[in-house]
Amino acid sequence: MNKDARVFVAGHGGLVGSALVRRLRLGGYSNIVTRSRKELELTHQAAVEAFFKLEKIEQVYLAAAKVGGIHANDTYPADFIRDNLQIQSNVIDSGHRHRVKKLLFLGSSCIYPQLAPQPISEDCLLTGPLEPTNEWYAIAKIAGLKMCQAYRRQYGFNAISIMPTNLYGPGDNFDLQTSHVLPALIRKCHEAKQRGDEEVVVWGTGTPHREFLHVDDLADACVFLMERYESADPVNVGWGKDIAIRELAEIVRETVGFTGRLTFDRSKPDGVPRKLLDTSRLRSQGWAPRISLRQGIAATYEWYLKSQQALPA
Ligand SMILES: NC(=O)c1ccc[n+]([C@@H]2O[C@H](COP(=O)([O-])OP(=O)(O)OC[C@H]3O[C@@H](n4cnc5c(N)ncnc54)[C@H](OP(=O)(O)O)[C@@H]3O)[C@@H](O)[C@H]2O)c1
Repeated sequence: MNKDARVFVAGHGGLVGSALVRRLRLGGYSNIVTRSRKELELTHQAAVEAFFKLEKIEQVYLAAAKVGGIHANDTYPADFIRDNLQIQSNVIDSGHRHRVKKLLFLGSSCIYPQLAPQPISEDCLLTGPLEPTNEWYAIAKIAGLKMCQAYRRQYGFNAISIMPTNLYGPGDNFDLQTSHVLPALIRKCHEAKQRGDEEVVVWGTGTPHREFLHVDDLADACVFLMERYESADPVNVGWGKDIAIRELAEIVRETVGFTGRLTFDRSKPDGVPRKLLDTSRLRSQGWAPRISLRQGIAATYEWYLKSQQALPA
């Protein structure tokens, strides 16, 4: 792979995009192109078209999307389906028109049916109803994957799709209104420790199992696949093992040093009982993750503390 290639990381300010930029720089890529949302609104088709026409991009990592947890998906269904359909359609179509050599589309494990057999293989796609809480987002992501397959089939466009499990790491979203479970737990435990609270309330029963992958491992897998994977078939990217939310909360409690107790609010939704990706397709290509959950949570908490210090008083 040519390390001088002009590589566009769409969504470089986000959790995944920033990890991709770190990983690409580390890997010797010297021509990374980024645009903030202010500079390039990806839902605006004409702006995206003009960007690709001018910039002569050779590779695209499509990590820009409207992303959020159960609450955000449930509250803003129209925004989730519209923004994601627009962003991905604009970038994939303009990328193809302006001769991008390869594009990597980031989907999500929520594209799979709610009751898919575990671990979930890529072949489960479209075999049953989706989890209703985030179906808007999931439908958009399925359309993105299908668009990559259609453009490969009709135009020979070299677009690949990956489906990551739940991600976490430096740059995560710690806003309790829109965040995912892991950063929300870190923030709740940290603030409870600071206030001297006796308990932290965790949403749901604590029994569902989820899989978590550090975003630096994800970025490594993306670059690995961009450099050698050439197929229309999507690739799951995960850690390979899941953990009960109760156990996860316990690791966070220990890492943060919160000495109070964890209680579980059973009135809040649990989501699906288990969600673990079958990562055999990726592993058969020769890639495996490296960052353990404990190491990753400790590094994420360290980043959270630093980012708090950086905020104006
Ligand atoms: N986080 C996860 O657990 C997870 C799991 C599976 C898959 N994924 C996938 O990974 C990708 C990236 O997710 P992430 O967690 O990195 O999300 P994120 O932290 O919210 O980052 C998304 C990025 O996209 C940009 N963006 C959003 N709307 C835009 C628009 N209309 N125009 C231009 N830029 C826009 C955002 O810019 P602003 O901040 O300026 O809006 C931000 O930089 C998504 O496709 C997501 O589906 C994420």
